[in-house]
Amino acid sequence: MTFVRNQWYVAAYATELGRNLLARTILGEPIVLFRANSGRPVALADRCVHRHYPLSQSQLVENTIVCGYHGFTYGTDGRCVAVPGQQRIPRTARVTCYPVAELDSFVWVWIGDPDRADATLIPRAPWLADGRYTTVAGMEPLAARYGLLVDNLLDLSHETYLHGGYIGTPEVADTPITTEVDEERGIIRVSRRMADAACPPFYAQSTGITGRIVRWQDIEYHPPCLYLLHSRVAPAGVLPSPDGTDPDGFHVEVVYAITPSTGTSTYDFWAVARDFALGDEAVSTFLHDSNRTVVLQDVAALNTLEQVVAAEPPGLQELSINIDTGGLAARRMLARMAAGEPAPVPAAAR
Ligand code: FES
Ligand SMILES: [Fe+2]
Repeated sequence: MTFVRNQWYVAAYATELGRNLLARTILGEPIVLFRANSGRPVALADRCVHRHYPLSQSQLVENTIVCGYHGFTYGTDGRCVAVPGQQRIPRTARVTCYPVAELDSFVWVWIGDPDRADATLIPRAPWLADGRYTTVAGMEPLAARYGLLVDNLLDLSHETYLHGGYIGTPEVADTPITTEVDEERGIIRVSRRMADAACPPFYAQSTGITGRIVRWQDIEYHPPCLYLLHSRVAPAGVLPSPDGTDPDGFHVEVVYAITPSTGTSTYDFWAVARDFALGDEAVSTFLHDSNRTVVLQDVAALNTLEQVVAAEPPGLQELSINIDTGGLAARRMLARMAAGEPAPVPAAAR
């Protein structure tokens, strides 16, 4: 599966970055992340130019990284500022410095052509850093290609089968979806609106609703990296007011950042932001643990599927039905984005 390089990708949560060296491989490129003295996030290629020792296993000294092998020293712009045993620093002694932006509690990096890195193109997940919401979050590494996670998230009918007892009930798989592809803005929307559904434990325990519910799942996928699930839950029959306010609805914004690591591995960043039980530790712990369990169910299934897909002969056909409309639209959009890109310049040649 090809990567779309000229895009922003989530590299880490802002809280993961400090005066420590964090290693992440994104789109096949090893990257070291840290905060400069000023607090600004920095992302450099995680490979010393000398003998390729990982800078993430080196030392951060003020605003420099001192290579842990022979001491080549790099500034926050990636330029080498000192080498051992000589005054002259070779002109080519620098590592790639990636454009970085901190937004909505994520640290985003741009892997492709740095001249095209426009931070205004970053898709937003504002709930994650909004005091009117309480958020729980995590990241699980996936030993599967990122396309399998895109398929998985765009078709939530799997909740009924893979996540029964947590977020799945029969109505999810039984209710038809509507799909809308916004080619101009590059967004895929998939909606499933259940008027009268069983309340799964995930929502029953967190909201306190005891009976049946109205359950809306409105997906907004911004390929390649950001997936939003606007979830609304309310007692059966309770709808938003005609003026658009919704005081009796419970709103959960489920956010996934899908960051390809290698061709067969992916970072699965997940966050659950709610507008009720704000600051309630017991509800936070419950939602964190439940969602992590659900994510790990997906991880187990997708890791298995990666093995299956990798062993298949090329061109083996799948059989798609209505529930796959969103996933197929996403595949087409991703393929078009990848095809529209100039040939990648290897990091070493930049
Ligand atoms: S490998 Fe980094 S200084 Fe030698
Ligand atoms: Fe799932």
